Amino acid sequence: MTQNTAFFSDISQHLNASQIITNSVEMAGYIKDWRGNFSGSAAAILLPASTKEVSEIMRAADAHDQIIVPQGGNTGLVGGGIPDNSGKAVIISLAKMNRVREINADNRSMVVEAGCILQTLHELTEAEGLYFPLNLAAKGSCSIGGNLATNAGGVNVLRYGNTRDLCLGIEVVLIGGKVMNLLSPLRKDNTGYDLKHLFIGSEGTLGIITAASMKLFALPKARATAMASVNSVSTAITLLERLQRQSGEQVEAFEIMPKTLIDVVLKQFPALQRPLENPDAFVVLMEIASTNAADGTPTQDGTIPINDVMETFLESAFEDGLIDNATLARNAAQRQQLWDIRENAPESTKKESWPVNTDISMPVSSLETFYTEATKAVHAIDDTVRICGYGHLGDGNLHFNLIEREGGDPDWAEKRPVFTKILYEVLSKVHGSISAEHGIGRLKVDQLETVKDTVALQMMRQIKTSFDPKSLLNPGVVLK
Ligand code: FAD
Ligand code: LAC
Ligand code: ZN
Repeated sequence: MTQNTAFFSDISQHLNASQIITNSVEMAGYIKDWRGNFSGSAAAILLPASTKEVSEIMRAADAHDQIIVPQGGNTGLVGGGIPDNSGKAVIISLAKMNRVREINADNRSMVVEAGCILQTLHELTEAEGLYFPLNLAAKGSCSIGGNLATNAGGVNVLRYGNTRDLCLGIEVVLIGGKVMNLLSPLRKDNTGYDLKHLFIGSEGTLGIITAASMKLFALPKARATAMASVNSVSTAITLLERLQRQSGEQVEAFEIMPKTLIDVVLKQFPALQRPLENPDAFVVLMEIASTNAADGTPTQDGTIPINDVMETFLESAFEDGLIDNATLARNAAQRQQLWDIRENAPESTKKESWPVNTDISMPVSSLETFYTEATKAVHAIDDTVRICGYGHLGDGNLHFNLIEREGGDPDWAEKRPVFTKILYEVLSKVHGSISAEHGIGRLKVDQLETVKDTVALQMMRQIKTSFDPKSLLNPGVVLK
């Protein structure tokens, strides 16, 4: 830990003692990441409670050359919110900035501070009959500021888009302390460059997002959730296309998981229900939703219209030999049981192994080729490796993860980089992206240099320099 005395004496005029954490026990949770792949060191954690306090910190940082690392819920998976080991950085946690400034039902929008927890926003908007559709397994801890800074995706992108698509405007504090107010509730605003998009997905390297204006939607009143067993990725894609057409484009989520992964989830969380007996190589978890309450209300013969749509779809898929086994959730508890399997996937693989994790995207039409070729390439080296490639099929986004053989592989640490390299080689053949939704962080900085267009990289560096000429804001993240 190396304290910049001038910076600390400056900001202690603006923050009270409880907002400046320097003891190592309290700091521990802020300086390592969820997966345990990154750990660093910080001179302090600062907890501003207002935009003004963030502005004072950013003014003082510029005046005294203090390195700043912004942090939200610290659920990021690429190390972007974790400082390096020098101990020079201070972490600015937005956790105390968690006020909902406005929910505007007529405009279908809300203005929220960066530290609001995603799940809290779900609960607050639902209470107003409104819906904020961003949804990921980390929802109980991740913050809207972090979601914006990473342009988070999750399970509902196929219907509502990613965080960028849900954002109307942001308030951002720049190095030097200037507050840029782009908190527009407008859906149409062509007044020059749309600067919010530079900050969305910038992973804390250009400014600190303190608040955001986000889109809201009508709350779905009826849902049908089902899980079906399929023998291949291409069959799953056929099913998605059919379900979109048969449901009138009402598909909210369409997730794929291999049987290998289901076995790992059930091993690590034995209290969970096995969703399907003897599934084929994969299962798909699918959900359709309607905002029309009648779609979820039993008719005279006792059937529920939205369930009928799903049942008809499943029956025709069964008759056509696309699925061999399926289950439809009959109530909220059964729905949750199906989602529990999916939402515990990241935690289960972490408990089972030190996985090779990826977050890749490609055209949906290339998913089958990638899955087959990548499996073949990995198994050519070691056919005991468990392939746990799962994810957001409709977005062409896979977490194609690898787990060592049951019981452990003593050579796993040496094999991991070899497999990582192979996976990205196969990915490059289908012209995919090395980061679909988690970002670059510290993890993929070197790799970005090898895949990004060189002119685009130059322009990114120029943008970084114009906002942060002394490279005080999250250095080493996104760009070298
Ligand atoms: P942090 O981890 O605190 O920070 C992430 C990055 O944003 C860092 O670079 C940080 O410096 C920057 N940052 C944070 N707040 C601000 C701010 N206010 N202003 C400027 N920069 C800021 N991601 C997905 O996209 N889809 C998923 O389905 C998904 N599932 C997950 C499941 C689990 C179990 C876990 C642990 C993670 C998952 N993630 C997923 C990754 C993670 O939850 C997201 O990246 C999330 O958006 C991070 O939010 P956070 O508040 O935790 O940000
Ligand atoms: C998921 C995270 C890891 O989809 O993005 O499970
Ligand atoms: Zn994901």
